[in-house]
Amino acid sequence: MMNHSLIFARAYEKEAGGKIPASARPIFHLTPWTGWTNDPNGFSYYHGQYHLFYQYYPYDTEWNSMHWGHAVSHDLLHWTYLPAALAPDAPYDSFGCFSGSAIELPDGKQLLLYTGVRKEGGDKGKDFQTQCIAVGDGLDYEKYAQNPVLDARDLPEGLSPYDFRDPKIWRTENGGYRCVVGARHMENPKLGVLLLYGSEDAFHWHFESILAENDGRFGLMWECPDFFPLEGKHVLFVSPQDMLPEGFEYHNGNGTVCQIGTFDEETKRFIPEHHQAIDYGIDFYAPQTILTPDGRRVMIGWMQNWDTCKNTGYEDRQWFGQMSLPRELSIRNGRLYQQPIRELQLYRGPKVEYKNVPVSDRMTLNGIEGRCVEMDIRIRPEDAETPYHKFTMRFAQDDQYHSILSFRPHESLLKIDRKFSGSRRAYIHQRRCQVAQHNGEIHLHVILDRFSLEVFINDGEQVMTATILTESTARGISFEADGKAVMDIVKYSLFTEE
Ligand code: FRU
Repeated sequence: MMNHSLIFARAYEKEAGGKIPASARPIFHLTPWTGWTNDPNGFSYYHGQYHLFYQYYPYDTEWNSMHWGHAVSHDLLHWTYLPAALAPDAPYDSFGCFSGSAIELPDGKQLLLYTGVRKEGGDKGKDFQTQCIAVGDGLDYEKYAQNPVLDARDLPEGLSPYDFRDPKIWRTENGGYRCVVGARHMENPKLGVLLLYGSEDAFHWHFESILAENDGRFGLMWECPDFFPLEGKHVLFVSPQDMLPEGFEYHNGNGTVCQIGTFDEETKRFIPEHHQAIDYGIDFYAPQTILTPDGRRVMIGWMQNWDTCKNTGYEDRQWFGQMSLPRELSIRNGRLYQQPIRELQLYRGPKVEYKNVPVSDRMTLNGIEGRCVEMDIRIRPEDAETPYHKFTMRFAQDDQYHSILSFRPHESLLKIDRKFSGSRRAYIHQRRCQVAQHNGEIHLHVILDRFSLEVFINDGEQVMTATILTESTARGISFEADGKAVMDIVKYSLFTEE
């Protein structure tokens, strides 16, 4: 039976979401139907289409009592909103239905495994977090009568029931299920851990092991884990809170870490061999992955940073929070590589191409402008003996606004700067990323949607992501170099905007 809060939320989002014109949203990045979103949840392929649920508060553009919003897609780029899937309406999730994941059951139903949060000792009390289930048909979901399925009794000694969240479920080779859940130590809250649980039927769970532990290096609490095999290795994703920067890694406070290593079936522990940030820009958190029917490991993240959430931009904006472009993952030279999902190529407009363009004073190029654009850019010095000092690309530009992507070859630093993007607050506007140059050349694959920039550097060796709030009438793109650079550029408009 559907509860009143969910019926109310569904009626509200239909009415309020329906009033938001398509022109006020990005073209191919998912936004909440109305109100607020944070993490992607329940990313799955179910009954012939992709499902993406999301942390959701329909009634305001700020975080509040969490629901699960819901959208479906055939290509991961065009999304159709479905009615909200979960509302915080049970005693064990009355403070919120926090992040979780989804899987198809043998009987064809879809199971959502999520964190139910209630307040212990009234509204000002502590969050008490447990793992809960809802089962449905891709549209309506019923909370499991025996919820919660994992609670404080399933925690190893010394771990806190107040930080126990974000289960990611998968099917094992022997037909069972496993999930990984984020937690932390009660006595030493700096120690985030990831717990591995097993189940035969996805409803009854038992503790298996501490899969991985934060040894004090990667922030404090570990949120939103994902764990999957990729090209003979095991990959562990986690979004730690309050990270310290290390060189040019982990500048985001609440950031993301990818560890590549192996899984030891005996001890049921992950043995890391390599770590890196998943994204080196400003706005990326809490990613989830799926295996597509054709075998690709695809990731989608929350394209936002917790530290800049107060900056909702124009007062009349009815949504806040976007999902990143879905990205295909691979491993090369022991590192994580990301590529924009290949379906994006289906929506390319005519090609505009220039080769060996000398760049020094600021200039524009015929046919290169727009806010929904893909550009493949290679930059090198005109003469290898006299390197240029700095290359600058301005985009989302008009007389008043612009954002910048710039590159200094001496330091090999690529920088995003959105100070002049229309923000009225001095929040985080810049991020620098140390990149490689190959034969003196840097290769940038830039994807712009109306309110974002994603740069895939050197074939996806690193990615930098940032949102911008600039009015979409600012469509200019210009190039400039301090010194003499040469650029090859291929540009496509994307979808029908241009
Ligand atoms: C991460 C997070 C999760 C939690 C959710 C609540 O962004 O804090 O750990 O489940 O957001 O909305």
